[in-house]
Amino acid sequence: MKILSFESSCDETSCAVIEDGRHILSDVISTQVPIHKKFGGVVPEIASRHHIEDVLPVAIEALEQAGCSWEDIDAIAVTQGPGLVGALLVGVAAAKAAAWALDKPLVAVNHMEGHIFANLLQYPDLEPPFLSLVVSGGHTMIVVVKDYNTFQLLGQTRDDAAGEAFDKIARVMGYPYPGGPHIDRLAQEGNPDAISFPMGLGREHTFDFSFSGLKSAVINYLNTAKMKKEEINPKDVAASFQKAVVDVLVEKAMKAAEATGYKTIALAGGVAANSGLRKALKEECDKRGIRMCRPDPVLCTDNGAMIGCRAYYMAKAGDFAPMNLNADPRLPF
Ligand code: KG4
Ligand code: ZN
Repeated sequence: MKILSFESSCDETSCAVIEDGRHILSDVISTQVPIHKKFGGVVPEIASRHHIEDVLPVAIEALEQAGCSWEDIDAIAVTQGPGLVGALLVGVAAAKAAAWALDKPLVAVNHMEGHIFANLLQYPDLEPPFLSLVVSGGHTMIVVVKDYNTFQLLGQTRDDAAGEAFDKIARVMGYPYPGGPHIDRLAQEGNPDAISFPMGLGREHTFDFSFSGLKSAVINYLNTAKMKKEEINPKDVAASFQKAVVDVLVEKAMKAAEATGYKTIALAGGVAANSGLRKALKEECDKRGIRMCRPDPVLCTDNGAMIGCRAYYMAKAGDFAPMNLNADPRLPF
């Protein structure tokens, strides 16, 4: 089965052709990062307009790279949500048009489930059940993937997502959007114990997260130092902040593994590209005999391939969408 997938939830327009769920025939990503950079973050209206311009050329490129014509496609998949409504609408409209014109079934995918399924593309032998730690710009969650179509949310952030905190702190420190990779790079050369920042909900018996207190603490630290004309070491600030985020993510993931007994943890979402998180999680997993999975960076951030992979398992279960499908910016997990 060949699926053509559309992803347009934020600032990447991406289409992929996926064969039998796990085989990437093409994965074309047109990023708007350089466009939004000068505004310090994604401007929703601008994102929508660029998705409109890019969606058809990206779909055609995905078909070409896969060596397919439109007629070779068995089903069309699209990210229904969560995300920016105007951005999502472009992908949904394009996917519906393709499905209608080709008379092929339509599959509506939850973006966060897509992030988790990027692991299935990376690891051909990976099968549910497993645990997933999903850390993106908009979400932070611990999920049990019970089988290909059954998920249980164990915990999530009560306020900011981890990626959001990375981006906001980088911005205050003068780095462009997206800030996560800049903090990651600085942190590699800084002292993680230089400054003690709070670990939100770290000591509490819950799988939920909170990053807004940590974010405020870092911003206060930077503002106070500036006011007092004290010297700031950006590498130490980045390393200390990153440690506070990574410690709580790893601690809760380990507690979830202990509580559920699962022996595989799949890291997912844009922040899964963070080198500190990957290293710390791997170390703790190794100590406990847990297998850690993580997609390559290109499959961690938004891409069409993960949507096509997720859609395959929905299609196999007969879970198709109606032709009056609408985008849902707050699609629950
Ligand atoms: O999953 P994603 O592409 O988009 C959402 O669905 O939200 O995640 C984007 C987020 C941004 O906040 C970005 O700063 C963060 O992932 N990110 C990183 C790194 N690479 C991307 N955060 C920390 N370290 C990185 N290396
Ligand atoms: Zn995403």
